[in-house]
Formats: sequence, C-alpha cells, structure tokens
Amino acid sequence: MKILLLGSGGREHALAWKLAQSPRTEKLYIAPGNGGTDNVAENVDLDVSDFDGIASFVINYEVDMVVVGPEVPLVEGIADYFKGHSLLKDVLFVGPSKAGAQLEGSKDFAKQFMLRHHIPTAAYQTFSAGELGAAERFLETLTPPYVLKADGLAAGKGVLISPTLEDARRDLHELLGGKFGEAGAKVVIEEFLHGIECSVFILTDGTHYKLLPEAKDYKRIGEGDTGPNTGGMGSVSPVPFATPEWMQRVEERIVRPTVEGLAAEGIDYRGFIFFGLMDCDGDPKVIEYNCRMGDPETETVMLRLQSDLVDLLEGVAKGDLDRRTLEVDPRGAACVMLVSGGYPDKYDKGFEIQIPEDIEGILFHAGTKHWRDQLQTSGGRVLAVSCYGKTLPEALASALKGAERISFEKKYFRRDIGRDVLGQRV
Ligand code: AMP
Ligand code: GLY
Repeated sequence: MKILLLGSGGREHALAWKLAQSPRTEKLYIAPGNGGTDNVAENVDLDVSDFDGIASFVINYEVDMVVVGPEVPLVEGIADYFKGHSLLKDVLFVGPSKAGAQLEGSKDFAKQFMLRHHIPTAAYQTFSAGELGAAERFLETLTPPYVLKADGLAAGKGVLISPTLEDARRDLHELLGGKFGEAGAKVVIEEFLHGIECSVFILTDGTHYKLLPEAKDYKRIGEGDTGPNTGGMGSVSPVPFATPEWMQRVEERIVRPTVEGLAAEGIDYRGFIFFGLMDCDGDPKVIEYNCRMGDPETETVMLRLQSDLVDLLEGVAKGDLDRRTLEVDPRGAACVMLVSGGYPDKYDKGFEIQIPEDIEGILFHAGTKHWRDQLQTSGGRVLAVSCYGKTLPEALASALKGAERISFEKKYFRRDIGRDVLGQRV
C-alpha cells in the first residue's frame, strides 16, 4: 500500500515508525513531517489544511490510504471532503467525519452527547456571550477550583482552572470577551473532578472497536506537576491503576456507549478516539474526548502495539475491524520529552542537536529540522526518547539515560515522569 500520513509532531513520527514496519507498506509519505520523520517516510511539503493540495498529491501518487494525525483537519471536515470527491471516495481514509470530530471540536457537543448516552462526566452548563449574568450565577453554585472551557479548538489552551471565584469571574469575562476568538463564543463551566488521569484509546470503524494500550501523560512543565501546561512532557504505558477490572468499567460505561451512541446518531466515525479520563475513587469519568491519538502518549502506545498497524487501519477504513487482531506487548514503555529552555513561554530555536550513535531507545522527533548537515531544534518540544523495559521503572531509567545523553543548548526535561504511578498496583 502507498500511505499518506498527515501531521508533523512526535505523535506522527511514532505512527510513521509503526506504519513503516508493516510488510504491507510499499511507500509511506508524511505531510509535512519533520527533521526525524524522513528516516522512516518521505516528507512532503503540504499543509494539513490544504485539502486541494492533499487531494492532488493522493491522485498523482496513487495513494491507497490516508491517515490523519492532528485534530484540526478533521474538525475542518477533511474526511467529508474525501468522501465527496469523485476521484477520492475509494481511497481508504482513517479519520472521523466532521460530525464525529465534534467530539473534540465542540466541548458543548461532547457534553450533550455524554448526557444523551448516560456517559459519566463532570456536571456542567454551557453559556454564550449574552449570558454572562447567568454564567456568573452558575459559578456561584459551584465550589472551588472552577473549570472553564472554551467550546471550540484552542490549541490545547482553552481550559482554565481557577482557584477562586474571583479568578473564575475574571477568566469567564476573558473567555466570553473573545480571548480565544470564535472558539470562546460559548463557554462550558463544569464541576472540578478530583482524581488521577488516564488516557484510553480505541480504534473504531463505527461499529466495532479495539482498545489500544492505555497511557498516562504529564502535561505540566515542572517536576511534581507544577507550572504551566505544555504539549506534553512525557508518558508511560501501561498505567498501573488501570487494572483489568477498572478497564472493564471504562469499556462498559464509556467506550461502548460512545461507539454505540455515535452509530445511533448516524455519525460516521472511522478512526481513533482518545478518552481523557479521571479515575474518581475507582469510577472513571470523561474529562474530554479527542478525535485523534494523544501526544506524547502515542510515543509509548505505538511501542506496545504488537500487531500490524496497517492491517488495523485498513479494518477501520473498510468497516471490518472485527476481523483484525490487536495484540499488546506486555513490556512497559516510557517516553521523556526534551524541550527548549523557556518553553512553554518564550524560547530560542536553531540550536544544533547532538545524538550519540549508540543512544538507548527510539527517538521520535517533534520540533527538529535539517539545516545544511545539521539537525537543529525548531520548536518548543524537540525530541521524545521512548524506551521499553521489562518493568516500567526499567523503561523510565532507560528513557532518562537517553534524555541525558542527547545534547542541545538550553535542553530541559522532567526527571519525574511516571513516578506518581510507580508505587501503585500493576
Ligand atoms: P484539556 O485541554 O481538555 O485536555 O484539559 C486540560 C486539563 O485540564 C486536563 O487534562 C485536566 O488535567 C484538567 N481538567 C479538565 N477538566 C477538568 C475537570 N472537570 N476537573 C479537573 N480537571 C480538569
Ligand atoms: N496528551 C494530551 C493530548 O494529546 O491532548
């Protein structure tokens, strides 16, 4: 098969790494890719939102399957574009329709969907700009901390957690006042859930689904989960508290009703679903849906997927996922993200990256580029070091060692990835 993968982050490098291992892959293209993806695929200079450009490429290069990494083109309707195009409708396509991508594209849609299908989530109400007074009165009925979410996509920055009522009021005014533009035209205000987070992923063809290995990501810049949110500082898989009993609850209460709910509403969903869950004293609740894989979770999940990803994705696109197998490597996997000093605020880029030949683990690039004969930093999140281990602590130790040995100016990484869950029952 000739495959085109859309995206340019560590998530896409990990997906490309896995796709490239399949005997079914004749040729793998990635658009636009980054300074590392060209080791496993051919980078193509196309923007993920340039549907016409992507269409021409798929036709001219006789691409058999398109896989979408990030959420933006999905929310913009790339799957519908392909379906409605006379020359593209038979191309195997992995990614939900625009209606399906609303699970991530509109927090209000996601909340209403969960309510309709009795899927456990935080209590909430939605308000628009004309309803500031009602929104303030609703805030007053809640206890701190307060959770406010811009309805639409806001590049991962649309969730504000406010410690006091006063902060929450100010955040509310900012959100409804246009801080996130169109994305903040509506605001979801919801109950704060106490607990520990876990990321659960499925592949679905709209009827059948298969669970991928679960993972936990670390979002804050500082050790001990302090400081501002980032695009992700590391991940581990498996998650010790996600026992078979807990995962069974997740499947029964959340995964199955979601897949059945989408089908019952006539929403065409062929792709990944990422369930951002909170374990509330043993009861899993949905914090958010995403219509794609997680980053940096993919950088550990792909290590633990033993089965052929091309075969699975073909099942997703064709609707016969039930006839495919998905096996999971029992080993642990850990990922440590190397970032540019200063990130997620201001940082410099263009520094040379030096990687020893005998580096441990698998490197997934996020913000790198080639310049002359150098590999250079080109973003805040630079490189993910992913490692296997017989146990999670062994995987973590290897990933940290790898992270230590790679050098570039102002390199920073967290040394405490996974530490919070290690003491828990496996
Ligand atoms: P999101 O951008 O939707 O991934 O949200 C960012 C983060 O905010 C989540 O990963 C959680 O850590 C936190 N969060 C979102 N909603 C809630 C909630 N209802 N209760 C507690 N934490 C939340
Ligand atoms: N790791 C969280 C996300 O990809 O949204």
